[in-house]
Amino acid sequence: MSKKYYITTPIYYVNDKPHIGHAYTSVATDCIARFKRMDGFEVRFQTGTDEHGLKIQKAAEKKDIEPIELCNINSENFRNLTKLLNLSNNDFIRTTEHRHKSGAIYLWDKLYENNEIYEGEYKGWYSVSEETFYNEKDLHKTSDGLFKTHAGASVEWISEKSYFFRLSKWANNLLELYDRNPEFIRPKTRLKEVISFVKSGLNDLSVSRTSFDWGIATPTNEKHIMYVWLDALTCYPNGVDYLSNEKTDKAEFWKNTTHIVGKDILRHHAVYWPAFLMAANLSLPKRIFAHGWWTNEGNKISKSLGNAIDPLEIIKNYGLDQFRYFMLREVPFGNDGDFSLLALKNRINDDLVNDLGNLCQRSLSMIVKNLDGVIPSIEELSKSEETLLNKYEILVSECSQLIDEQLIHEYIKKIWKYINEINKYFNDKKPWEALKNDHKKFSNIIAISAELVKRVGLLINPIMPESSFKLLRILNVNNEELLFSNHKKYKIEGTKIEEIKYLFTRLP
Ligand code: ME8
Ligand code: MG
Repeated sequence: MSKKYYITTPIYYVNDKPHIGHAYTSVATDCIARFKRMDGFEVRFQTGTDEHGLKIQKAAEKKDIEPIELCNINSENFRNLTKLLNLSNNDFIRTTEHRHKSGAIYLWDKLYENNEIYEGEYKGWYSVSEETFYNEKDLHKTSDGLFKTHAGASVEWISEKSYFFRLSKWANNLLELYDRNPEFIRPKTRLKEVISFVKSGLNDLSVSRTSFDWGIATPTNEKHIMYVWLDALTCYPNGVDYLSNEKTDKAEFWKNTTHIVGKDILRHHAVYWPAFLMAANLSLPKRIFAHGWWTNEGNKISKSLGNAIDPLEIIKNYGLDQFRYFMLREVPFGNDGDFSLLALKNRINDDLVNDLGNLCQRSLSMIVKNLDGVIPSIEELSKSEETLLNKYEILVSECSQLIDEQLIHEYIKKIWKYINEINKYFNDKKPWEALKNDHKKFSNIIAISAELVKRVGLLINPIMPESSFKLLRILNVNNEELLFSNHKKYKIEGTKIEEIKYLFTRLP
């Protein structure tokens, strides 16, 4: 039986349509999910939408429609995005679904039974757009005397009856967790931030609201709506049936869970979430990875600036795999990044057209032109050729470690280094010269090159699945489910190749 692996994106708010930031998290998570599948894991990959809370209720009021109507429309937009991005998600969860609500109630009941929740009154600051409570000391005052969050969101003062979760009680357990298990939060710089946040002192957390009603009523008191983050976070175990009384096979996935999130919601995932789970005697996820923030040509992406980048537009103009490659390669995963069309064009022309595209084009078109379109078999291998071929296996194992550390950009860099070594091999061997006087030698160089191209086709699959499948199909590798370790079974010699079309087009 293969090992189980569970990976998630955040569930996105449905107050608005998706933008490039959502696409980024989803593509990165997809790349990791695809890699793990090819590496022999049984993978579940979940994404979805976060549909309750005041933010959504207000957005619906503004449009003069019912919250559920807004949710249906925008949740569908996010679902369409998964198709447009060619995501390999196994599930798309909505917090308005029954299976989710029952899981959220299950967690609440556990916390309540364990005396981790008590009744009180919340008086303090709240950011609706972040759905987050703030201490005054964690806000900053603008010149006009208003308080803002660090991300620049406005806050309002609220005062209402509320249930509280005994978060303060869990501070030491959290610090112990980070200490015992430093792998829990990545990158390491984020771990440090979390530790200092917890050390600065935790208040008990308000976990219910009473001034509006768009949410899940708490089982303890139906006048209280569950705090949207407590509700939302349970989507992760709910997707694998971990928060239900019947333990299904799927619940096995929970033990090996990775949450990919943006750094904006690190606190909710790295502090509140493990505290809720520990307080309910439930198992924790293995890893929380918080990636950085994209800006648009140097500016913060925001609705008020009207500069949100629509991933649909970029994909329409530049191509899906081009977009995926750029997002994953341009910025080290974990760092902030700037979206610029010039940088995108350069990546396409340099890395995709010149390096990868040329490699495939040059070697395969020689088969079409000079070998009646039939891939020849390898007859002879020099030491260095053998090393170059065997490097594939070494790369798979190195990249597998990188992916376990979520170092997606490092994985891509390694593959491109390999591509360029193969390009150099091709240049040095000069098959066009062998063609004139030594047909056997020519055919052998081409056979080796085609085999190398096939291996590259496998290695790039998690990054650019569509282009990878296109390339592999030309080589008669038609498997839907590819495994890195099966490369020897994917035989290409004797395959008839038709005319070769360019994988990527150069941009002016
Ligand atoms: O926070 N750069 O949903 P959300 C990079 N519903 N990533 C970005 C980004 C940007 N400029 N903008 C958004 C929520 N993201 C909650 C989550 S999970 C239980 C509940 C990505 O719609 C990034 O992953 O505000 C960020 O964490 C997420 O979208 C926030 O999406
Ligand atoms: Mg947000």
